[in-house]
Amino acid sequence: MDEAGTYGTGPDDPGTGREPESPRLVRRKTVLRAALAATAAIPVALAAGPALARTSAASGSAPQLTPSCDDGDDPTPEQTEGPYFKPNSPQRTSLLEPGLPGTPLTVTGYVFGRACLPLSGVLLDFWQADTNGAYDNTGYRLRGHQFTDSRGSFALTTIVPGLYPGRTRHLHVKLQAPGRPVLTTQLYFPNEPRNNTDTIFDPRLVMTVRDGGGGREAAFDFVLDVPQDPGPGPTPIPSGGTWTVGVTYRAGDRVTYAGRAYVCLQAHTAQPGWEPPAVPALWRAG
Ligand SMILES: [Fe+2]
Repeated sequence: MDEAGTYGTGPDDPGTGREPESPRLVRRKTVLRAALAATAAIPVALAAGPALARTSAASGSAPQLTPSCDDGDDPTPEQTEGPYFKPNSPQRTSLLEPGLPGTPLTVTGYVFGRACLPLSGVLLDFWQADTNGAYDNTGYRLRGHQFTDSRGSFALTTIVPGLYPGRTRHLHVKLQAPGRPVLTTQLYFPNEPRNNTDTIFDPRLVMTVRDGGGGREAAFDFVLDVPQDPGPGPTPIPSGGTWTVGVTYRAGDRVTYAGRAYVCLQAHTAQPGWEPPAVPALWRAG
């Protein structure tokens, strides 16, 4: 039985014009990417791969920011596992093999907890169809697992999955933070005609995809239902202080904000949402 036949009983909502991701998630992830990019030294960030290279901070343009990164945001939706998952996949970040046909695809992103903090050591287990829409159910072709690094990032190198009857184009993935329940879900591609007819398709799970690297480059950030210490909460509008929006600060610069002193940890240009108490990656109290 295919996946659509097994799980196609939920309400479908084709053609509603919903955005691929909720604006709230987009805003939150935007500021997180910028803050994470600022956390790493630029040469390291660029060497680390497209996850950081794609951020606006790395490219030098001003990111769109949100006033705060609060907890309680929606976690990544669950999706059906389907009939083709196999445990014990090999640990590898590249699913490419000699002679494997298909359009090259990279998928990069971060895994966050509920307080918007990156999660390291999260298991991501990917499996997918080949370019002809077939799963390898005897071996482990196009199956592999990896773990997020210390910054909560992951990177998968694979091919664009093919189509098979009843489904739109998709990747399967299971995620598990240490000691936490497994999240099983799927990732989708924008502008796929079958997105409108696949009853499993969820627009919240559409990746950002562009052409590049001789193939396609996709990005997606996961949010797991993992409680975290949210750190400093929303900060009040300061009644005074030297921290100023639009000023470019260098590491070691000192400012005051809302009656406290802060030291700049990473060079950046101050913007709304990056108030020193709200961004420990950029400012340390003291
Ligand atoms: Fe599938």
